[in-house]
Amino acid sequence: MNTQTDRELATLQKSLPSSYYISDDIYRREKEQIFCREWLCAGREEDLPAPGSFVVLDVLGESVLVVRSKSGQLKAHYNVCRHRGARLCLSPQEAQKETVKLGWGISSAGTIRCPYHSWTYGLDGELLSAPFLRDREGFCRESLSLHPVGLETWGGFFFLNLSPADASAHDRTLLRQLGPVPERLTRYPLSELRTARRIDYEVGANWKAIAENYNECYHCGPVHPELCELVPDFKRHGGARLDWENGIPHRRGAFTFTCTGTSGRAAFATLSQEERERHKGEIIYPNFLLSLSAEHVVAFLLWPQGADRTVVSCSFMFHAGEIAKPDFDPSDAVNFWDLINRQDWAICRRVQQGMCARVHQFGYYAPMEDLSLDIRRYITERLGAL
Ligand code: FES
Ligand SMILES: [Fe+2]
Repeated sequence: MNTQTDRELATLQKSLPSSYYISDDIYRREKEQIFCREWLCAGREEDLPAPGSFVVLDVLGESVLVVRSKSGQLKAHYNVCRHRGARLCLSPQEAQKETVKLGWGISSAGTIRCPYHSWTYGLDGELLSAPFLRDREGFCRESLSLHPVGLETWGGFFFLNLSPADASAHDRTLLRQLGPVPERLTRYPLSELRTARRIDYEVGANWKAIAENYNECYHCGPVHPELCELVPDFKRHGGARLDWENGIPHRRGAFTFTCTGTSGRAAFATLSQEERERHKGEIIYPNFLLSLSAEHVVAFLLWPQGADRTVVSCSFMFHAGEIAKPDFDPSDAVNFWDLINRQDWAICRRVQQGMCARVHQFGYYAPMEDLSLDIRRYITERLGAL
């Protein structure tokens, strides 16, 4: 091998080993040691508008029931009956696949009834009744509430924690996990936004490859020509020296991520002058990416489906006041983002394919990919040293 190249490579940081992106064993460890421990962004409070509203979410194979309780609070439970383990509620997609209709999980009276033997729970998860069983028969209702899932909110998003007792024993709060992000985004009216459009993308790549890709702009020049037209700094110096803290400027005359770089929608009223003209992005491991323009915000939730597959749920959010206008049309932002997204997912899939090559043991991070190094530290801190 050429010694010049050897010397150059010696200065580059190595990526995680390729096996971390393709091994089922690593995926199972990530599920237990990351996704079952950390707070996961899982949706918007607006998804559950009234008491009795519910959603069923698949979190790496764990079915979670999120409900709005009678008092108006959001609650989350493992979607499994304490009696013999039947799944209590189905998502609309799951219900469609069932060829016979079993009893529906949530009643209009605000209870969750198991379709098997009719054990019935309150929306807060407490067991209310179990036919023909009484406390004196060695049956104690109080100890048979639904298994809880932690739920916290921030900025109109709700977050789940699959090990809530462990999280509170170790003071793993949502706010700690969010770190400096709430302060950095304090002028964005996130809780006043509403989702105008959501697209779920099935991406043939490991979730970490997607997070790494989000974290660097070294790829923007080759992969995103349209985006670089709008934000020339993304390709200048290979995407190095980007000031994410203060935002990235657009080309002259442009101020947002749409096909034209402009919009008739009003900028969020509380933003600073810089934020009205620049673009910001945040990543909150393990599954939450935010991209913030002057008048819309895009949220990406990563839902790993296996070592080599991830569903990316992409929500396009606008101020409720703009959505209420009769001529509101989000397609200028949605179409632009959809193009950028599909470019990203296509290149992530190529990476996933390439990493399976028997000769590819690991990759390198170029200096302008420093932020991608975060994931190597994040993973090794949680799964142990390489
Ligand atoms: S499994 Fe739920 S009531 Fe029997
Ligand atoms: Fe990209």
